[in-house]
Amino acid sequence: MTEREHVGSEQVASERGEPEHGEPVRVGLVGIGVIAATHLAVLAERKDVELEFTVDPRAVGPVAFRGGQPPHYGDLGEALAAHRPDLLVLATPTETHAELVTTALLRSTARILVEKPLVHDRASLAALRALDGTADVRGRVFTAHHFAFSPEVDWAADLLAAHPDWGPVTTVTSAFHDPYVQRGAEAFASYVSSWTDSGVNQLSMLTRFVDLVGLTSLRQADGGASAWCAVEFRSRGEAGTARLRSSWLTGASSKQSSLVLGRSGVEVWIDHTAMTGFAARDGELLAAFGTDGRTERKVAHYRPLYASLLSGRPDPVLGFEAAERITGIHRALPEAE
Ligand SMILES: NC(=O)c1ccc[n+]([C@@H]2O[C@H](COP(=O)([O-])OP(=O)(O)OC[C@H]3O[C@@H](n4cnc5c(N)ncnc54)[C@H](O)[C@@H]3O)[C@@H](O)[C@H]2O)c1
Repeated sequence: MTEREHVGSEQVASERGEPEHGEPVRVGLVGIGVIAATHLAVLAERKDVELEFTVDPRAVGPVAFRGGQPPHYGDLGEALAAHRPDLLVLATPTETHAELVTTALLRSTARILVEKPLVHDRASLAALRALDGTADVRGRVFTAHHFAFSPEVDWAADLLAAHPDWGPVTTVTSAFHDPYVQRGAEAFASYVSSWTDSGVNQLSMLTRFVDLVGLTSLRQADGGASAWCAVEFRSRGEAGTARLRSSWLTGASSKQSSLVLGRSGVEVWIDHTAMTGFAARDGELLAAFGTDGRTERKVAHYRPLYASLLSGRPDPVLGFEAAERITGIHRALPEAE
């Protein structure tokens, strides 16, 4: 069993990548919205972490952490004037990421875990790159590409690695639906568009299976609430195509991907909502995966993500180079800007 398959609750400290000795990592959490609840839940279970402060300009209720209530600030600069965190977690609306990463880089020495996507356009990526001589951008900036840590993705990646005889992945179809239509303008303010929000999850998930080459087409619809895109990739030396659908016009969250290995006729189906999967060829079931049902989906993503980040050997998918590569493809066409 690999580290990323540990989604149950009975892990020991070393399996979570926690140091068994040493000072706790002092964390500042910036942005106390929907996803902050998952960060707080996973951070609270790690003995190697202390929550030093929280930041949000909105009037949020007291943020409880292990029975205590860390100091709260309305502005990151104000918090950094009073604290020296080891890790800053930025869980704010997508269009604020670039500016807050810049503040964090220039006004602290902390490592920074920024929610995905790292940036919302190419100009912001270029501005961060330009800071590299002034601050250690490559050593300090990490992006929470959490879908790459989902248990069904982990299972399918291990399965394909164990079966070179199945040949290359030739086609991927991935559909990510979120019921954000009900949140209206608030959804656009937090997540920009379905392509900005889900496209980056689909691309980071795909990096576990194939080498991404580039975006070949992108069509956005429903005012940015839906997208259809094609991405070229390479798998075991051969070219393939991924078709990515995302939309907020849905009654429920529903996310699935199908990987077809056309030479052998094998199909691997993964359900990201249920965290399940199976592989089949013609009428034959080749393999299947399920979870014990005890771990909430986002916790199942962020628990291994934090274990990797804090292990001293962060998975490359969290690193700045991966974010650069994913952003380069994600924002490649004018319509993606
Ligand atoms: N919601 C999810 O399931 C989810 C999952 C993974 C990643 N994300 C990403 O996390 C980010 C936040 O998403 P969310 O759903 O939590 O959004 P949200 O709108 O629920 O929360 C964002 C919070 O950030 C605060 N904020 C705004 N500007 C700020 C600033 N300058 N300093 C500090 N706080 C500020 C807002 O007041 C709000 O409380 C987005 O980039 C999103 O793509 C969200």
